[in-house]
Amino acid sequence: MSSVVIVGAQWGDEGKGKIVDIYTEFADVVIRYAGGPNAGHTLVIGDDKLVVRLLPSGILRPGTLCVLGQGMVVDPTVLVGEIDELKRRGHDDIEARLAISDRSHLILPYHIQIDTLRESSLPKERALGTTKKGIGPAYEDKVRRTGIRAGELRDLKQLTGSVEASLEAWAPVITALGGSVPVAKDIVAELAPLAQRLVPMLTDTSRVAHDALKHNKRVMLEGAQGTLLDIDHGTYPFVTSSSAVAGGAAIGAGIGPNRIDTVIGITKAYATRVGSGPFPTELDDEAGAHLRNVGVEFGSVTGRPRRTGWLDLPALRYASRVNGIDGLALTKLDVLTGLPQIKVCVAYDTPAGRVTDLPIDQLDTPGLTPVYEVLEGWDEPLASARVLDQLPRAARAYVRFLEEAAEAPVFLVSVGPRRAETIVLHNPFVGRAETP
Ligand code: IMP
Repeated sequence: MSSVVIVGAQWGDEGKGKIVDIYTEFADVVIRYAGGPNAGHTLVIGDDKLVVRLLPSGILRPGTLCVLGQGMVVDPTVLVGEIDELKRRGHDDIEARLAISDRSHLILPYHIQIDTLRESSLPKERALGTTKKGIGPAYEDKVRRTGIRAGELRDLKQLTGSVEASLEAWAPVITALGGSVPVAKDIVAELAPLAQRLVPMLTDTSRVAHDALKHNKRVMLEGAQGTLLDIDHGTYPFVTSSSAVAGGAAIGAGIGPNRIDTVIGITKAYATRVGSGPFPTELDDEAGAHLRNVGVEFGSVTGRPRRTGWLDLPALRYASRVNGIDGLALTKLDVLTGLPQIKVCVAYDTPAGRVTDLPIDQLDTPGLTPVYEVLEGWDEPLASARVLDQLPRAARAYVRFLEEAAEAPVFLVSVGPRRAETIVLHNPFVGRAETP
């Protein structure tokens, strides 16, 4: 048995798609355990670039079984669109390799309507900057116990009743926001052809995960968003609505926590954030523009320019603690090429003194300032490096510094967007390839 959780250690967009795709070569099953189409996992295959929002990143590997776990919220229109796009690109067997939890919750058009109306009605300082994909309202429906589970697609009559009940609960909200309440029958009529496509793939995916582990298959549990966007452990209320952390993998995939062997945390060599909320190491200067332009830091779902900043080590250590990170995948190291110096936040000065733990609930407090260590930059391109020794000295020193300060070994370093542009130091499904 081996199972590996891949979790974002920052505010999402750490490059999970590529890392999952690399390790998935060695996995039999890939399970996405949380979130929905707010995620945008970019996969680069040769010169072809594909952004998947719902499908697990392993979907391009022939022979890999992909699972949408019960911790997810699934927009049926988006999902069928992704399936069709992959079929257009020649992945004809995709439906045979896909299992969808019948307990995952559906995102319906009114969830998107409410998300959008709500965001635009809030004053700027309170708006969350959501992706407007209906994530919050769909999870709210779930915990209010008026949500619609994917299994209900099997019986459209029952589904109509459930949508009516959900709409009844939402009607006062929609009306107060100035929207018009949709009719359940119309929603179900639009869902009917999608249901026909999706129902054959619905199943108890906890059983799929359990059987895979029982038969010594290698299972990848793919997170979405990141630790600092987690509903419990993130920068609340500027978070998403799901359990993005590694613990969420047990719940969202339907396995016991003792079935997880390894947790890999993914961090960029710098930091980014989309949407609102505190970001103490944010840059508003030339270095920030460099990170945005060279790193192509624009939202893959929304196209929004991402906020950019220096790497935050207290935040990384926090992520290590709340996820139980065994090793780090360091992405986008190549983006730092050309910066004369690189800063890394190593602690915070607060009105009460210097702290090395992340003061997560006080990140917006006036008087809180990051303490930086300044490291040497480098000018050489990194994309052709395949082992650490092929990196320039200053880049190697950066990796080592990070590893020590984050108190977690680096398993992998990504030096370019392509699959091949990677230094793999450790593969949890196989073993250690190179000792840094
Ligand atoms: P929601 O998940 O659409 O409700 O958005 C809540 C917050 O999470 C917003 O700040 C979004 O920008 C952020 N967010 C959601 N999904 C992602 C992601 O995949 N990457 C980065 N930020 C995300």
